[in-house]
Amino acid sequence: MLNLPLTEEQARDAIIVALDCDRDEAYRLADLLAGKARWVKVGMTLYYAYGPEMVKEMHRRGFKVFLDLKLHDIPFQIRGAAHSASMVGADILSIHGLGGADMVAQARAGVEEAAAERGADGRTKLVAISVLTSMDQDALASIGIDAPVADEVARLAKLAVGAGSDGIVCSPKEAADMRALLGPDALIVTPGVRPAGAALGDQKRVATPAAAIAAGASKLVIGRPITQADDPAAAVEAIVAELTQA
Ligand code: C5P
Repeated sequence: MLNLPLTEEQARDAIIVALDCDRDEAYRLADLLAGKARWVKVGMTLYYAYGPEMVKEMHRRGFKVFLDLKLHDIPFQIRGAAHSASMVGADILSIHGLGGADMVAQARAGVEEAAAERGADGRTKLVAISVLTSMDQDALASIGIDAPVADEVARLAKLAVGAGSDGIVCSPKEAADMRALLGPDALIVTPGVRPAGAALGDQKRVATPAAAIAAGASKLVIGRPITQADDPAAAVEAIVAELTQA
Protein backbone atom coordinates (compact mmCIF):
# COMPACT_ATOMS: atom_id res chain seq x y z
CA MET A 1 0.00 0.00 0.00
CA LEU A 2 1.33 3.45 -0.95
CA ASN A 3 1.17 6.67 1.03
CA LEU A 4 1.27 10.11 -0.54
CA PRO A 5 3.48 11.87 -1.31
CA LEU A 6 5.29 9.09 -3.18
CA THR A 7 9.03 8.98 -3.69
CA GLU A 8 10.09 9.41 -7.30
CA GLU A 9 10.87 5.68 -7.45
CA GLN A 10 7.41 4.78 -6.15
CA ALA A 11 5.74 7.20 -8.54
CA ARG A 12 7.51 5.84 -11.63
CA ASP A 13 6.76 2.31 -10.51
CA ALA A 14 3.06 3.11 -10.04
CA ILE A 15 2.39 4.28 -13.61
CA ILE A 16 1.48 1.70 -16.27
CA VAL A 17 1.18 3.17 -19.76
CA ALA A 18 -1.58 1.44 -21.74
CA LEU A 19 -0.36 0.74 -25.27
CA ASP A 20 -3.71 0.51 -27.04
CA CYS A 21 -2.18 0.88 -30.49
CA ASP A 22 -0.34 -1.00 -33.24
CA ARG A 23 3.26 -2.17 -33.18
CA ASP A 24 4.85 0.86 -34.83
CA GLU A 25 3.11 3.21 -32.45
CA ALA A 26 4.02 1.00 -29.47
CA TYR A 27 7.69 1.16 -30.43
CA ARG A 28 7.50 4.92 -31.07
CA LEU A 29 6.02 5.42 -27.60
CA ALA A 30 8.59 3.08 -26.07
CA ASP A 31 11.36 5.20 -27.62
CA LEU A 32 9.83 8.38 -26.24
CA LEU A 33 9.15 6.96 -22.78
CA ALA A 34 12.44 5.12 -22.19
CA GLY A 35 13.88 6.12 -18.84
CA LYS A 36 10.67 7.93 -17.87
CA ALA A 37 8.02 5.23 -17.62
CA ARG A 38 8.76 1.81 -16.12
CA TRP A 39 5.63 -0.15 -17.02
CA VAL A 40 3.55 -0.71 -20.14
CA LYS A 41 0.27 -2.54 -20.54
CA VAL A 42 0.00 -4.94 -23.47
CA GLY A 43 -3.63 -5.89 -24.02
CA MET A 44 -5.34 -8.40 -26.24
CA THR A 45 -5.36 -6.26 -29.37
CA LEU A 46 -1.61 -5.84 -29.42
CA TYR A 47 -0.86 -9.33 -28.11
CA TYR A 48 -3.04 -11.24 -30.55
CA ALA A 49 -1.41 -9.38 -33.43
CA TYR A 50 2.22 -9.47 -32.35
CA GLY A 51 2.34 -12.11 -29.64
CA PRO A 52 5.12 -12.90 -27.19
CA GLU A 53 7.58 -10.91 -29.28
CA MET A 54 5.85 -7.69 -28.19
CA VAL A 55 6.35 -8.56 -24.52
CA LYS A 56 9.96 -9.59 -25.08
CA GLU A 57 10.72 -6.45 -27.06
CA MET A 58 9.30 -4.25 -24.29
CA HIS A 59 11.51 -6.10 -21.83
CA ARG A 60 14.55 -5.62 -24.05
CA ARG A 61 13.74 -1.90 -23.97
CA GLY A 62 13.72 -1.97 -20.18
CA PHE A 63 9.98 -1.92 -19.48
CA LYS A 64 8.03 -4.17 -17.18
CA VAL A 65 4.87 -5.54 -18.73
CA PHE A 66 1.31 -5.82 -17.46
CA LEU A 67 -0.06 -8.47 -19.83
CA ASP A 68 -3.80 -7.83 -19.77
CA LEU A 69 -5.16 -11.03 -21.29
CA LYS A 70 -8.02 -11.56 -18.81
CA LEU A 71 -7.66 -15.34 -18.78
CA HIS A 72 -10.85 -17.37 -18.27
CA ASP A 73 -11.00 -21.10 -19.05
CA ILE A 74 -10.96 -24.45 -17.26
CA PRO A 75 -8.34 -24.67 -14.51
CA PHE A 76 -6.06 -27.06 -16.41
CA GLN A 77 -5.90 -24.74 -19.43
CA ILE A 78 -5.36 -21.68 -17.23
CA ARG A 79 -2.45 -23.31 -15.43
CA GLY A 80 -0.76 -23.78 -18.79
CA ALA A 81 -1.70 -20.32 -20.06
CA ALA A 82 -0.43 -18.59 -16.92
CA HIS A 83 2.78 -20.60 -17.13
CA SER A 84 3.25 -19.63 -20.78
CA ALA A 85 2.53 -15.93 -20.16
CA SER A 86 4.95 -15.97 -17.29
CA MET A 87 7.69 -17.62 -19.35
CA VAL A 88 7.17 -14.96 -22.05
CA GLY A 89 7.89 -12.36 -19.40
CA ALA A 90 4.62 -10.97 -18.08
CA ASP A 91 5.33 -9.17 -14.81
CA ILE A 92 1.63 -8.80 -14.04
CA LEU A 93 -1.05 -10.96 -15.69
CA SER A 94 -4.82 -10.51 -15.51
CA ILE A 95 -7.35 -13.30 -15.03
CA HIS A 96 -11.13 -13.39 -14.51
CA GLY A 97 -12.32 -14.02 -10.97
CA LEU A 98 -15.51 -15.39 -12.51
CA GLY A 99 -13.54 -18.53 -13.42
CA GLY A 100 -13.77 -19.53 -9.77
CA ALA A 101 -11.38 -20.36 -6.95
CA ASP A 102 -9.94 -23.48 -8.56
CA MET A 103 -9.17 -21.60 -11.78
CA VAL A 104 -7.43 -18.82 -9.83
CA ALA A 105 -5.47 -21.36 -7.77
CA GLN A 106 -4.30 -23.09 -10.95
CA ALA A 107 -3.24 -19.75 -12.45
CA ARG A 108 -1.16 -19.21 -9.32
CA ALA A 109 0.33 -22.70 -9.67
CA GLY A 110 1.24 -21.92 -13.29
CA VAL A 111 3.10 -18.72 -12.44
CA GLU A 112 4.82 -20.38 -9.49
CA GLU A 113 6.09 -23.16 -11.74
CA ALA A 114 7.30 -20.63 -14.29
CA ALA A 115 9.05 -18.61 -11.57
CA ALA A 116 10.98 -21.71 -10.53
CA GLU A 117 12.03 -22.26 -14.14
CA ARG A 118 12.80 -18.60 -14.81
CA GLY A 119 15.08 -18.29 -11.82
CA ALA A 120 15.68 -15.14 -9.86
CA ASP A 121 13.75 -12.52 -11.84
CA GLY A 122 10.61 -12.69 -9.72
CA ARG A 123 7.20 -14.32 -10.01
CA THR A 124 4.48 -12.99 -12.30
CA LYS A 125 1.85 -11.29 -10.19
CA LEU A 126 -1.81 -12.07 -10.82
CA VAL A 127 -4.63 -9.54 -10.77
CA ALA A 128 -8.26 -10.57 -11.09
CA ILE A 129 -11.05 -8.87 -12.97
CA SER A 130 -14.35 -9.07 -11.10
CA VAL A 131 -17.36 -7.65 -12.96
CA LEU A 132 -16.46 -5.95 -16.26
CA THR A 133 -17.25 -2.26 -15.95
CA SER A 134 -19.13 -2.53 -19.24
CA MET A 135 -21.77 -4.59 -17.38
CA ASP A 136 -24.52 -2.93 -15.36
CA GLN A 137 -27.18 -4.43 -13.10
CA ASP A 138 -29.40 -5.42 -16.04
CA ALA A 139 -26.52 -7.10 -17.84
CA LEU A 140 -25.66 -9.07 -14.69
CA ALA A 141 -29.29 -10.10 -14.27
CA SER A 142 -29.37 -11.25 -17.89
CA ILE A 143 -26.67 -13.81 -17.14
CA GLY A 144 -28.45 -14.97 -14.00
CA ILE A 145 -26.67 -12.92 -11.33
CA ASP A 146 -29.18 -11.02 -9.23
CA ALA A 147 -26.80 -9.63 -6.57
CA PRO A 148 -26.10 -5.88 -6.62
CA VAL A 149 -23.05 -5.12 -8.80
CA ALA A 150 -21.02 -3.85 -5.82
CA ASP A 151 -21.68 -7.04 -3.86
CA GLU A 152 -20.67 -9.18 -6.81
CA VAL A 153 -17.48 -7.16 -7.29
CA ALA A 154 -16.58 -7.59 -3.61
CA ARG A 155 -17.41 -11.29 -3.61
CA LEU A 156 -15.28 -12.05 -6.67
CA ALA A 157 -12.40 -9.89 -5.42
CA LYS A 158 -12.31 -11.70 -2.10
CA LEU A 159 -12.64 -15.09 -3.76
CA ALA A 160 -9.80 -14.37 -6.19
CA VAL A 161 -7.38 -13.05 -3.58
CA GLY A 162 -8.32 -15.88 -1.22
CA ALA A 163 -7.51 -18.39 -3.96
CA GLY A 164 -4.07 -16.99 -4.76
CA SER A 165 -4.45 -13.87 -6.87
CA ASP A 166 -2.09 -11.09 -5.78
CA GLY A 167 -4.79 -8.51 -6.28
CA ILE A 168 -7.49 -7.12 -8.50
CA VAL A 169 -8.27 -4.58 -11.20
CA CYS A 170 -10.94 -2.05 -10.25
CA SER A 171 -12.02 1.53 -10.86
CA PRO A 172 -10.49 4.24 -8.66
CA LYS A 173 -13.99 4.78 -7.29
CA GLU A 174 -13.97 1.22 -5.89
CA ALA A 175 -10.35 1.30 -4.72
CA ALA A 176 -11.00 2.44 -1.13
CA ASP A 177 -13.60 -0.26 -0.52
CA MET A 178 -11.38 -2.88 -2.14
CA ARG A 179 -8.37 -1.81 -0.06
CA ALA A 180 -10.45 -2.09 3.12
CA LEU A 181 -11.72 -5.51 2.02
CA LEU A 182 -8.44 -7.00 0.81
CA GLY A 183 -5.92 -5.48 3.21
CA PRO A 184 -2.67 -3.58 2.76
CA ASP A 185 -0.76 -6.18 0.74
CA ALA A 186 -3.18 -6.63 -2.18
CA LEU A 187 -2.10 -5.31 -5.57
CA ILE A 188 -4.85 -2.91 -6.68
CA VAL A 189 -4.60 -1.81 -10.30
CA THR A 190 -6.89 1.01 -11.45
CA PRO A 191 -7.66 2.28 -14.96
CA GLY A 192 -9.90 5.34 -15.41
CA VAL A 193 -7.22 7.76 -14.26
CA ARG A 194 -7.11 11.31 -15.58
CA PRO A 195 -4.62 14.00 -14.53
CA ALA A 196 -6.37 17.29 -13.76
CA GLY A 197 -7.22 19.02 -17.04
CA ALA A 198 -6.80 15.91 -19.23
CA ALA A 199 -9.54 14.99 -21.70
CA LEU A 200 -11.90 12.33 -20.37
CA GLY A 201 -12.35 10.58 -23.73
CA ASP A 202 -14.89 7.80 -23.20
CA GLN A 203 -14.07 7.49 -19.47
CA LYS A 204 -16.89 8.66 -17.24
CA ARG A 205 -15.98 7.87 -13.64
CA VAL A 206 -12.40 9.05 -13.33
CA ALA A 207 -10.00 10.09 -10.60
CA THR A 208 -6.74 12.00 -10.67
CA PRO A 209 -3.55 9.98 -10.14
CA ALA A 210 -3.13 11.29 -6.59
CA ALA A 211 -6.77 10.62 -5.72
CA ALA A 212 -6.49 7.05 -7.02
CA ILE A 213 -3.37 6.42 -4.93
CA ALA A 214 -4.99 8.06 -1.89
CA ALA A 215 -7.94 5.71 -2.32
CA GLY A 216 -5.61 2.71 -2.14
CA ALA A 217 -4.47 1.99 -5.70
CA SER A 218 -1.05 0.36 -6.09
CA LYS A 219 -0.76 0.90 -9.84
CA LEU A 220 -2.47 3.26 -12.29
CA VAL A 221 -3.20 2.20 -15.86
CA ILE A 222 -3.09 5.39 -17.93
CA GLY A 223 -3.48 5.41 -21.69
CA ARG A 224 -4.52 8.37 -23.78
CA PRO A 225 -3.47 11.17 -21.38
CA ILE A 226 0.09 9.92 -22.04
CA THR A 227 -0.06 8.18 -25.42
CA GLN A 228 -1.95 10.96 -27.18
CA ALA A 229 -0.10 13.83 -25.53
CA ASP A 230 2.04 16.04 -27.79
CA ASP A 231 4.94 15.11 -25.52
CA PRO A 232 4.27 11.71 -23.87
CA ALA A 233 7.44 11.88 -21.76
CA ALA A 234 6.42 15.28 -20.38
CA ALA A 235 2.98 13.84 -19.58
CA VAL A 236 4.62 11.10 -17.51
CA GLU A 237 6.82 13.64 -15.76
CA ALA A 238 3.77 15.73 -14.86
CA ILE A 239 2.10 12.70 -13.29
CA VAL A 240 5.30 11.83 -11.38
CA ALA A 241 5.39 15.43 -10.14
CA GLU A 242 1.75 15.23 -9.04
CA LEU A 243 2.39 12.04 -7.09
CA THR A 244 5.61 13.22 -5.45
CA GLN A 245 4.22 16.60 -4.47
CA ALA A 246 0.71 15.55 -3.42
O1 C5P B 1 -6.76 5.78 -22.48
P1 C5P B 1 -7.22 5.40 -21.11
O2 C5P B 1 -6.40 6.03 -20.00
O3 C5P B 1 -8.69 5.59 -20.91
O4 C5P B 1 -6.90 3.86 -21.04
C1 C5P B 1 -7.24 3.08 -19.93
C2 C5P B 1 -6.87 1.67 -20.14
O5 C5P B 1 -7.50 0.89 -19.13
C3 C5P B 1 -7.33 1.07 -21.46
O6 C5P B 1 -6.35 0.11 -21.84
C4 C5P B 1 -8.64 0.40 -21.12
O7 C5P B 1 -8.91 -0.70 -21.93
C5 C5P B 1 -8.38 -0.07 -19.69
N1 C5P B 1 -9.58 -0.24 -18.88
C6 C5P B 1 -10.47 0.79 -18.62
N2 C5P B 1 -11.56 0.58 -17.83
C7 C5P B 1 -11.78 -0.61 -17.32
C8 C5P B 1 -10.91 -1.66 -17.57
C9 C5P B 1 -9.81 -1.44 -18.35
O8 C5P B 1 -10.27 1.90 -19.09
N3 C5P B 1 -12.81 -0.78 -16.55
